[in-house]
Amino acid sequence: MITLAVDNQEITVKEGTTLLKASEKLGIEIPTLCYHEGLLPYGACRLCVVEIFKEKENRMVAACSFPVEEGMKVVTSSDRVLKRRRMIVEFLLSRCPDVKTIKDLADRMGIKKPRFKSKNLDCILCGLCVRVCNEIAGIGAIGFVSRGKKLKVDTPFHMASDVCIGCGACSSVCPTDAIEMELDAVKRFLELLGSEHKCRYALMGLISYKVCSNNYECWKCKIDQRIRDALGTHPIFAAKKIKKEKVNQYFSFLKKIQE
Ligand code: SF4
Ligand code: SF4
Ligand code: FES
Repeated sequence: MITLAVDNQEITVKEGTTLLKASEKLGIEIPTLCYHEGLLPYGACRLCVVEIFKEKENRMVAACSFPVEEGMKVVTSSDRVLKRRRMIVEFLLSRCPDVKTIKDLADRMGIKKPRFKSKNLDCILCGLCVRVCNEIAGIGAIGFVSRGKKLKVDTPFHMASDVCIGCGACSSVCPTDAIEMELDAVKRFLELLGSEHKCRYALMGLISYKVCSNNYECWKCKIDQRIRDALGTHPIFAAKKIKKEKVNQYFSFLKKIQE
């Protein structure tokens, strides 16, 4: 176990706990954008920056990926920290001026107009979509392409993916709504499947077998909506925590009450 102090409050947590988790346990909120508790930390946005002090060392680190250390002192909202976060949000606001999540963050920080040139994009390059597709769906249908200013998320060679299973996990984790499940993608997906219209949750391996009765227009599916409401997250994450049998039982129950 490791003992440290966050904003002058002492806490003892397991070795390997991140500063973000330790702060959460104390009820201290640190803003995040590229963090998702079901995915490996990535440290891309740096919004969760905090200041750490240990012996003679003092530096800024990303709380979502930095592990606790014995005797460490963490400050989550010093002037230096707030200034850095403000700069990050200002930069993101110039990149994505119409994205609600970023506008809300900017409002909370009192940022009216960023000093940087506006780009009118909707992706903040947080990598959540790429990570969920790789780490959780195990598909790898999308990834980062190009470099520098041209860096973006795309399918290989910007071509329609022939491996995407249409699980929608990428769209559900995107903090900016930059990814939408398009009807075209759903149609392509249908063509790939031929006459076998298995529910996408069956394709994700969450249930043994279920036929889709909505032509893969999941937004019309009451079962899909109820599962999201009941599990409080995209089912692909819930499946990691809940035993597969439990999910199957849940689906059978929903099927019964729909009949
Ligand atoms: S819908 Fe699922 S498989 Fe397709 S790109 Fe998104 S996460 Fe990957
Ligand atoms: S599309 Fe969304 S989830 Fe993917 S990198 Fe961009 S902002 Fe993040
Ligand atoms: S939330 Fe920690 S770096 Fe993005």
